Amino acid sequence: MPRKIVKTKYFFEEDYRETIAEVSTDKYKDWGNNDTLNVVGKAVSRIDGYDKVSGTAIYTFDVDLPGMTHARILGSAYPNAKIKKINTKKAKQLDGVLEILTFENAAKIPWFNNSTMLFDSHVRYEGDEVAAIVAESDSIAEEALKLIEVEYEQLSFVTSSQDALKVNSVKIHDNGNIVGGKPAEYDRGNIEEGFKEADYVLEDKFETQIAVHNSTEVHCSVVNWDGNKLKVWDSTQGVFAVRNVVSRSLGLPESDVTVITKYMGGGFGSKLETGKYTIIAALLARDIGKPVKITVNRKQMNLITGNRPDSIQTLKAGIKKDGTLTAMSLTSYSAVGAYPSWGGCSGPIKGIYKCSNLKTTEYSVMINAGRARAFRAPGHVQGTFALESFIDELAEKAGIDPLEFRLKNYSEVDPGSGSPYTTKLLREAYKKGSEAIGWYEKRKPTGTDTGYLKRGIGMATQIWGGSGGPPAYVTLKLNSDGSVTILGGSQDIGTGTYTILAQVVSEVLEIPIDRMQVILGNTSSVPFGPESGGSTTAPSLSPAARDAAEQMKSKIISGAAAVLGLPEDELVYKEASVYVKNDKSKSVSIPALMHSMHEQMFITNGARSANPEHYAINSFGAHFAEVEVNTETGKIKVLKIVAAHDIGRVLNQKTVENQFHGGIIQGIGFALMEERILDANTGKVLNTDLHTYKIPTIKDVPEIEIYVVSKGDNLLSNTGVKGMGEPAIIPTAGAIANAVYNAIGKRIKSLPMTPDKVLNALYG
Ligand code: MOS
Repeated sequence: MPRKIVKTKYFFEEDYRETIAEVSTDKYKDWGNNDTLNVVGKAVSRIDGYDKVSGTAIYTFDVDLPGMTHARILGSAYPNAKIKKINTKKAKQLDGVLEILTFENAAKIPWFNNSTMLFDSHVRYEGDEVAAIVAESDSIAEEALKLIEVEYEQLSFVTSSQDALKVNSVKIHDNGNIVGGKPAEYDRGNIEEGFKEADYVLEDKFETQIAVHNSTEVHCSVVNWDGNKLKVWDSTQGVFAVRNVVSRSLGLPESDVTVITKYMGGGFGSKLETGKYTIIAALLARDIGKPVKITVNRKQMNLITGNRPDSIQTLKAGIKKDGTLTAMSLTSYSAVGAYPSWGGCSGPIKGIYKCSNLKTTEYSVMINAGRARAFRAPGHVQGTFALESFIDELAEKAGIDPLEFRLKNYSEVDPGSGSPYTTKLLREAYKKGSEAIGWYEKRKPTGTDTGYLKRGIGMATQIWGGSGGPPAYVTLKLNSDGSVTILGGSQDIGTGTYTILAQVVSEVLEIPIDRMQVILGNTSSVPFGPESGGSTTAPSLSPAARDAAEQMKSKIISGAAAVLGLPEDELVYKEASVYVKNDKSKSVSIPALMHSMHEQMFITNGARSANPEHYAINSFGAHFAEVEVNTETGKIKVLKIVAAHDIGRVLNQKTVENQFHGGIIQGIGFALMEERILDANTGKVLNTDLHTYKIPTIKDVPEIEIYVVSKGDNLLSNTGVKGMGEPAIIPTAGAIANAVYNAIGKRIKSLPMTPDKVLNALYG
């Protein structure tokens, strides 16, 4: 089958990745609308649904090996300290304790995930790894942690980006507190000229909080050595990424390391990075010669496994009287924790609106706290809240309806590069969403609702990447009875990858899904695939699955031609059999074909094709929110969210709706209640459990309506799928904030919009 090596690029989380990969060059016919398809696009139930609801699905947390031991990690008690001495004697004496690692015996292990050491005698945040214990049981390991005596020399610390930028601030690392030594800057056009052209110039400041992922399945690994070969069950979004880090850290060939993630209970970006705990478990397991399970507890989930960095964003814009944007600027400060990470939030302002004069300046600032990690649409969630609140302010200044203002500044091409989009159906999303919420009929002029319960309607726009791209592979095995085994690179992180791959193959081969087995998340059996991040899994893998299936179909037809002694163009493939066009009574089924050919299995390898050159590839959409604000208690209740998006083709109506629900609920948490509170006096986090760190419960969930306005993006790939896992959360907080403003006539510029802030805005 034709293949070639190409260079292509795609947006992954906050950045562009350039890849050179072997891709398929076969061009398959466009699938057209979903209406023309039989399996793809339908609300197919998850093929792993039974395993999950019956409790038989094995997540990493459930893996239980014979003779398995249990490891736990001791974290620093202080936000900044030098470890003077560690006394592990008492802990070692506890019955059942097998081994203890500290910086004294494990500091020198190379750790290839980032620049930090596995253990460091200088700990820079509460929870920073100090030691690890493995014991015969989990409770013994936990008990033994308390017996380790650590002598710290406490150092002064800093807990906010603003303090960390002061000249006399504590330096967390020798080279200063700004990541990269300077802010990330971007500009286009001429900002000064743009402001001069404006009739009005507005400036405002918005703040967002630090939020933590709170995956249901805690971070954990189970490791087992068999001689020099290592097997790792890991709760990860990227089995190949983990294999890479583990093999390099331990000096093993990749072929000696197997990483398995069959099911995963949530990651949202926190499980994109390989955990130190995985390496620690591998070292401990090698030392004691037994399998080790290592688990991060709930408190550590909050402290050490990442967070969405906070932001202080100053936005400035110039507009003409008619609402045309003439210039925009953003300056942001984000606290990213004690090790270099990224905290920018300029994606939305750069990408959504037509504005040729634009400048962004983003400071990622280190403080003495756990490090930021990617968190569902990193940057865009914070950036969209601020931008879309500000856009409403600009619309009000111009005396224009907020939706009309957005349409007025609509960009037909990518505003940065001028490139056309493969598709952009944002206008259609606005139309569908505004109709569904009753934008023009139901929305009252701001602040005019009477009574103490005030209702309002607001909206916000989203932009995201999510094109996916190579390298991503799918291997198909067609068995002699006509059943199919699908081996997909990558893993299913809960989004439905098992099911969508089966649907794609079923669509092409017309073989029912119940005759298919899908294997994912095992580096020793599946071909390479990317981490599940950046909303790229379906857009990267589904075209590879289609490629493999189309090749399989060709193979079957060629085989049938040889068996029947007829040219291929006299044959037609239908429902796993090949028929003679002019004589429908003559046919050959897959089992008969295999038998005639003395074959037991057909194998094909499908590859993701390259992304089209010279196009911008983005998903777009808008959320519309209706809220009710209790002006006596300050409590905001979200009544309804309408989500309308251009996400390319829907592969599975159910799993798309699932992800939208999840993203919207997570967005409500971010908008109204979630906040990691770091105490400036002690440098410790005050709410490290799910009692004090509030996340939404079922009572906070509003009525949700989902509309996908797009069909297949046929310029993008052979399945035309754009990613949607992150778009689902992006515009939620902005839409709610604008609805709150519409209800009460006061703008809450700081997240989360807790009752105290509402009451302050109303009466303060
Ligand atoms: Mo990413 S935040 O894992 O999609």
